[in-house]
Amino acid sequence: MGEQKVIEWDSDGSGYGSCDEDSLAEVHRIVVRQILQKGCHSVLDFGCGHGRLAEHLGKAGCSVSLYDINEELVSLAKERCAAHDNVSVDADLSEIPDDHFDCVVLSVVLVCSSTKEIFEDTLKSAVSKLKPGGLLVIVETHPAFRGEVFSDFQATYASGEPFDYHDEGRAFQVSLKAGDEELRMTDYHYSISTLLNAIVSSGSRVTHVMEPRDLHESRHRNAMKPPYIVIEARKDGSVDSTD
Ligand SMILES: C[S@@+](CC[C@H](N)C(=O)[O-])C[C@H]1O[C@@H](n2cnc3c(N)ncnc32)[C@H](O)[C@@H]1O
Repeated sequence: MGEQKVIEWDSDGSGYGSCDEDSLAEVHRIVVRQILQKGCHSVLDFGCGHGRLAEHLGKAGCSVSLYDINEELVSLAKERCAAHDNVSVDADLSEIPDDHFDCVVLSVVLVCSSTKEIFEDTLKSAVSKLKPGGLLVIVETHPAFRGEVFSDFQATYASGEPFDYHDEGRAFQVSLKAGDEELRMTDYHYSISTLLNAIVSSGSRVTHVMEPRDLHESRHRNAMKPPYIVIEARKDGSVDSTD
């Protein structure tokens, strides 16, 4: 067996794209389904990474805008979605219009926030881009189950490091494995109450919460606990469709 290649995501953004093709696939499928069911057309993929979710949304016919603070990843996302005229890139947050999108997705983005202030500011920026009544979709690794091994990822808490659920903003290491590659990154823990309260403070109301099963076919599949939590909310204002 070959040696495992370890890629440190925090210092090598491009590694993210090469290693995790399979991870998040199931939860992305759920997100696309929810967005289509709600009749959203214009979608901002806020923290798009290397553009996998955007590619699915583009294929599904949505008009997708991509944004990420990591320029290297934006380039990868642009390349990936080049075949879709309905996917465009917004390099600068200030150039993205406010009150504009039917839907804004934050897929595993808030967990990257190194402080609660950044967490809240990122959420507020995302909500500001939504039309009144627009749909906010947030995917997070499930804060309650950081000590579990999942098919997509595991945190160092799964190797015995004590996990204090109440230690808000605590940095922790996560690893994703794909074949002979391992991607390691630092994430930050925020409890479910912090997440929900921040959504409410951003001027949105929670409309639906899902805790999808770990459905990925892998020897690490966890049949007992959900790897992710998916929260849907509506920005305050008039809503065209019902939830
Ligand atoms: C774990 S990746 C997820 C990528 C993608 N959303 C997905 O579901 O595949 C997290 C991404 O969020 C981006 N990110 C983190 N904080 C951000 C912020 N405040 N504004 C924009 N992007 C951010 C990172 O650069 C990274 O690309």
